[in-house]
Amino acid sequence: LDDPNADPFAIAAEAAARIAELTGVERHDIALTLGSGWGRAAELIGETTHTIPATEVPGFSKPALEGHVGTLRSVALPNGKHALVIGARTHYYEGHGVRRVVHSVRTAAATGATTMILTNGAGGIKQHWTPGTPVLISDHINMTGDSPLEGATFIDLTDLYSRRLRNLARSLSPGIDEGVYVQFRGPHYETPAEVQMAKTIGGHIVGMSTALEAIAARQAGMEILGMSLITNLAAGIQLTPLSHEEVIEAGRAAEPVISKLLADIVAEL
Ligand code: 6GU
Repeated sequence: LDDPNADPFAIAAEAAARIAELTGVERHDIALTLGSGWGRAAELIGETTHTIPATEVPGFSKPALEGHVGTLRSVALPNGKHALVIGARTHYYEGHGVRRVVHSVRTAAATGATTMILTNGAGGIKQHWTPGTPVLISDHINMTGDSPLEGATFIDLTDLYSRRLRNLARSLSPGIDEGVYVQFRGPHYETPAEVQMAKTIGGHIVGMSTALEAIAARQAGMEILGMSLITNLAAGIQLTPLSHEEVIEAGRAAEPVISKLLADIVAEL
C-alpha cells in the first residue's frame, strides 16, 4: 500500500481472499469497525467463529494504540448472516497515509459487505452530552485536508450516513441524539479555539477517525451507519484538561450499554 504504483483495490481483494481462506466464510454481509469503548459489541452480536491477527492479512499495519486490538473477527449472526468485525483501525495521525486508513473498509467491501458500521470514541461539543453518551453521526466535516479518493473521482456525499439506518437506530434507542462529526488529524486534542471553530462551522462531535473511512465506504457503494461514544467534552467546553486515560475509562464504563445497542441494530439489518 505504500507503493504509489500499487492498486489499493487489488490489495483489498487479496485481503478479502485471505479472510475467506482463513474463515471458510465466502461472504461477509456486514462490517463493523469498533472504536474505543465499542470493543465488547462483537461478543453480543453473535458467535465469533474466527479471530485473525490483522498482521496475517495483506495491507494491514501493526496496531499503534492501547484499546485498539489488532484483530479481524468473523462473527456468525443468529439470522445466518456473517459480520466482519474490524478491531484493527489505522488512524490518519499514524502518518502511514490515507490508503492504510481506509484499507479495512475496502477489504470489508471486497468480502461482500454492503453495510458498514463505523464507531468511535470522540469529544462532545454539546454541554449536555455527559461522558458515556452515544450519538448518531448525521454528517461530517473532514478537516484532514485529505481524501481516500485518488484522481478525478467526483462522488456525491449526500446522506453519506444512511437516513434509513439512523431511523432504525432511533427506533431501537428512542431519544438518541445525533450530530455532525468533525475529523481532525490529531493526535493532539483540539485547542479550545479549534473547538469553537468546529462549533461555528456546524460541528457537534470532534474526533480523529471515521470521515475518511466513510468516504471510502461510499465509494465502495456501502450503506453506512456512524456512531460516536462521547468519552469527554472537547477542550474549552469541558474546563479540566483532557487525558487519554479519561477517554479510555469513559469507554469502558459505557461499553455494556452501547454494545447492546449495536447488537440490537445488527440484529435488525
Ligand atoms: Cl476532545 N478530540 C478528538 N479529536 N478526539 C477525541 C476527543 C477530542 N476525545 C476523544 N477523542
